Amino acid sequence: MALRTITSLGDLRGRRVLVRADLNVPIKDGAITDDGRIRASVPTLRRLLDDGAAVIVASHLGRPDGSPDPAYSLAPVARRLGELLGRPVAFATDTVGEAAQGAVRALEPAQVLMLENLRFDPRETSKDAAARGAFAERLAAFADAVVSDGFGVVHREQASVTDLEALRPSAAGLLVETEVGVLERLTRSPEAPYAVVLGGSKVSDKLAVIDSLLPRVQTLVIGGGMLFTFLAAQGHAVGASLLEEDMIDTVRGYLAKAEELGVAIRLPTDIVVAARFAADAEHEVVPADAIESASFGAAGIGLDIGPDSAAAFAAAIAGSRTVFWNGPMGVFEFPAFAAGTRAVAQALADLQGRGGFGVVGGGDSAAAVRALGFEDDDFGHVSTGGGASLEFLEGKRLPGLTALGWE
Ligand code: 3PG
Ligand code: MG
Repeated sequence: MALRTITSLGDLRGRRVLVRADLNVPIKDGAITDDGRIRASVPTLRRLLDDGAAVIVASHLGRPDGSPDPAYSLAPVARRLGELLGRPVAFATDTVGEAAQGAVRALEPAQVLMLENLRFDPRETSKDAAARGAFAERLAAFADAVVSDGFGVVHREQASVTDLEALRPSAAGLLVETEVGVLERLTRSPEAPYAVVLGGSKVSDKLAVIDSLLPRVQTLVIGGGMLFTFLAAQGHAVGASLLEEDMIDTVRGYLAKAEELGVAIRLPTDIVVAARFAADAEHEVVPADAIESASFGAAGIGLDIGPDSAAAFAAAIAGSRTVFWNGPMGVFEFPAFAAGTRAVAQALADLQGRGGFGVVGGGDSAAAVRALGFEDDDFGHVSTGGGASLEFLEGKRLPGLTALGWE
């Protein structure tokens, strides 16, 4: 069955609609460092406001421990949303308590109210269905209908993502519709050659997706912290670089399976090795099979792919028609170690310019491309969901989509 869409909710004029968004954005010293997810939530909110609904926005932020914590307040997010919408966004200082109840009562059609962080209540993420259900009832009491638009969180079984949707007429928002459409295109009918580029720090996070993608892709490109476990699996010393020793055998298995299936696994041939983990660390480029040949010896830490690898990865992307990319190639937050990630982003943007289809998957990779000065329009799609898009590509059932009629 397909996703239920907003149209299925009928006439929304004068009705109260609760929108479960994913406004979990990075915040540093009280300032939002990447507002991509807030921007991505705007089309659905505008649509509902234009339809004459009174809109209540609910989201989580970070992983507080189930009680109010000012460090995880959504107040700065509400302010930013107000700027982007060009209208005031009222803010309730609690989630389902007296402040929220009063604010909901005062809410008029075409006005917006944001509730405080859903995860300030332990029932939001509880494993106990009855506890989740009770919290969902409190949220449901605020609204005549529910729109689920937090794509980044649809892989979680949580009160506002799954339980709430069953208590009121509910539908997918425009963002969830778009994201699912893109991921369906990648799973059902990707134009070949299809390459997947994986980075980020941990192989263990990517195991399932590597496993399920190997039979479907022509090329798998590996960068980021996880590449060192691949190099170790090939028998190379990696100095003090990130390494998941307990994954080495699994990775060997993947290398063998890829060979059997005729999938090209592209690993870096050179590495930027640094004396320590710091923005201003001394660094050298060395061959990937001789990381300890850098002057730092066994103390050297690989923080980016080298220039030859960046060029080879860009060429692999250029030779493809469909590319999905998740995870930075290096520590892009430090300008000295951002070149690999920038090269991949540029190659993906170029592919798009030539009529290919390049998708940037995930919270971190999306934040990376924006931090490096790319625009969302440079790509075929920039997903707002890291874990969610990977799990979709793995072929997993996502509870937040099932709750919206998806099968
Ligand atoms: C994310 O950023 O990964 C999503 O917002 C989901 O958050 P979570 O991983 O804490 O559930
Ligand atoms: Mg996450």
